[in-house]
Amino acid sequence: MSKIGFVGAGKVGASAAFSLIHMMEPDEMSIVDIVENLATGEAMDLNTAAAAMGKKTVIRGGKDYSLLAGSDIVVVAAGFPRKPGMTRVDLLTKNIDITRDVVKNIVAHAPAAHIFYVANPVDVLTYAAWKISGKPRNEVYGMGAFHDTVRLWDVLRDNYHVKSPDAYILGEHGETMFPARSVANVGNAKVEWATIGETVRGRAAKIIELKGATYYAPAVAIAIQVKSVLNNERRLLPTSCVLQGEYGLNDVAIGVPAILGRNGMERVVELPLDKDDAAHLHKSAAAVKEKIAEVADKIKA
Ligand SMILES: NC(=O)c1ccc[n+]([C@@H]2O[C@H](COP(=O)([O-])OP(=O)(O)OC[C@H]3O[C@@H](n4cnc5c(N)ncnc54)[C@H](O)[C@@H]3O)[C@@H](O)[C@H]2O)c1
Repeated sequence: MSKIGFVGAGKVGASAAFSLIHMMEPDEMSIVDIVENLATGEAMDLNTAAAAMGKKTVIRGGKDYSLLAGSDIVVVAAGFPRKPGMTRVDLLTKNIDITRDVVKNIVAHAPAAHIFYVANPVDVLTYAAWKISGKPRNEVYGMGAFHDTVRLWDVLRDNYHVKSPDAYILGEHGETMFPARSVANVGNAKVEWATIGETVRGRAAKIIELKGATYYAPAVAIAIQVKSVLNNERRLLPTSCVLQGEYGLNDVAIGVPAILGRNGMERVVELPLDKDDAAHLHKSAAAVKEKIAEVADKIKA
């Protein structure tokens, strides 16, 4: 019996559920949102899509958190999204209160579920979810750096004709993210590393300016990470992880390469970053820590 829960039936939550029914065949999926009709309607639509694909997956939705009971993992995409001109940390004041409410409800109704955070600012909220839930760190992790990494792959494919890049964006899912140049393998491509980080960072803002939100790429990234966990693929994927000494960092959640398998975030992988990349990671962690400190009173267990 496998079950995936979602909190947030908006663009990202619903699109992630749609991606997941293409990639997997869990027994159940449940979608909770404070807007009951939205969650119920999305679930009915997705249920028909699953039936059309000949899948066994039954999908239910509503506003009652008891729908999440028995979930193996709960994807949290509940919260305000960015509007044009906003940064992700501008969302913190509003989304931290939602995080508290959502995490307490997940723990009450689906105590064994892993919590996979998506709402922004995702690194601060992943850390907050870990603290509020009281769970071990392998059971609370977030999606941000993998989304940025697939954007990097997109730029490497389109601008440099690199088909299978072995390269990552690491750090905060935000203004201080960076391409980990010292551990990138892009064959013979002459990549302009000095500007590619800016290009990747600017892509989300451009998409938001053009169509109001980004959801297909985040949805696919979420689905790949959830599948790695539930199918125990143990893929190495950039993930927002609570660090306990890795890369010389503590008491922060940030995007680093990690093994995702049936035990969740099974291991942070410490790549041999050079001095510059290590400095970027530390600078990025300091930016996340600053935001964690701002909401310290709201993230106690
Ligand atoms: N980590 C990433 O890479 C990434 C990528 C894209 C979007 N996001 C973030 O994901 C979040 C969702 O984005 P979206 O475009 O789907 O927004 P959206 O507005 O379409 O959906 C958000 C949903 O959350 C629901 N919600 C709000 N408060 C709630 C609560 N207390 N309980 C349950 N549901 C609640 C809303 O009713 C809404 O349906 C945003 O914070 C956005 O910034 C993260």
